[in-house]
Amino acid sequence: MRRTIIAGNWKMNCTRADARALVAGVVVAASQRPDVEVLVCPPYTALETATAAAAGTNVGVAAQNLFWKPKGAYTGQISAAMLVDLKISTVLVGHSETRGRFGVPEPDFDEAVLRHFGESDETVNRKVITALAAGIRPIICVGETLAERSAGATDVVVADQVRKALQNIDPAQNEVVFAYEPVWAIGTGEVCAPDEANRVCGVIRQTVAELSTQSAASSLRVQYGGSVKPDNAADLLSRTNIDGALVGGASLNAADFTAIILAAPV
Ligand code: PGA
Repeated sequence: MRRTIIAGNWKMNCTRADARALVAGVVVAASQRPDVEVLVCPPYTALETATAAAAGTNVGVAAQNLFWKPKGAYTGQISAAMLVDLKISTVLVGHSETRGRFGVPEPDFDEAVLRHFGESDETVNRKVITALAAGIRPIICVGETLAERSAGATDVVVADQVRKALQNIDPAQNEVVFAYEPVWAIGTGEVCAPDEANRVCGVIRQTVAELSTQSAASSLRVQYGGSVKPDNAADLLSRTNIDGALVGGASLNAADFTAIILAAPV
């Protein structure tokens, strides 16, 4: 039995005061569902505040990214050791917004400028290796763009991202979580149909079975992310291959995030 894992990705939102208030609400929801793993992913500036607010509760705190170098002249980057120093034990890696695949182009910038985070499958793999070496569990985000889906390439793209993220990593020896996040469903209000989300989460599991062992694949947790809301969460979370949700917009509202946590199958 895989434990449901619901994570709130706050992205570039929340001051420390906002974080304190939001965690206070999430703690109440999480206390009602000790069977569910509940995580919040604040921006770096609120990690310590959120950790303090969640101390002694069953809410965990995760970071949104890390860099693979241990230290040095990397302006704006955060190392694994810095996260360990804050007692952070989970990190998102390869979110489509850091991969630079923005769903909604901004009218003032051309596409090349928008790809300023430039994450590739290779850098995702480095980050996964770095996190695991520091004892931090990665939640690895994968997912196809609308163009890739329209071209019928979803399964190939997703399986390829999984294989490349896990280069030189054996998931039988290291705990990793995957989040299937179709790029076209993120922040758009357009959720992937539960049957289809479940099918692609199955593709991720099957790819892990091919790379590692059947038992590693069976115990792997795969979240769905992309416009998860209170009204679609129960349908998604009831599917056999969907073990949780990575929630963006709706995780910023304590009532909505609570409803999503409570929607997890018992
Ligand atoms: P969304 O974001 O729930 O706002 O679509 C999900 C994510 O980016 O993880």
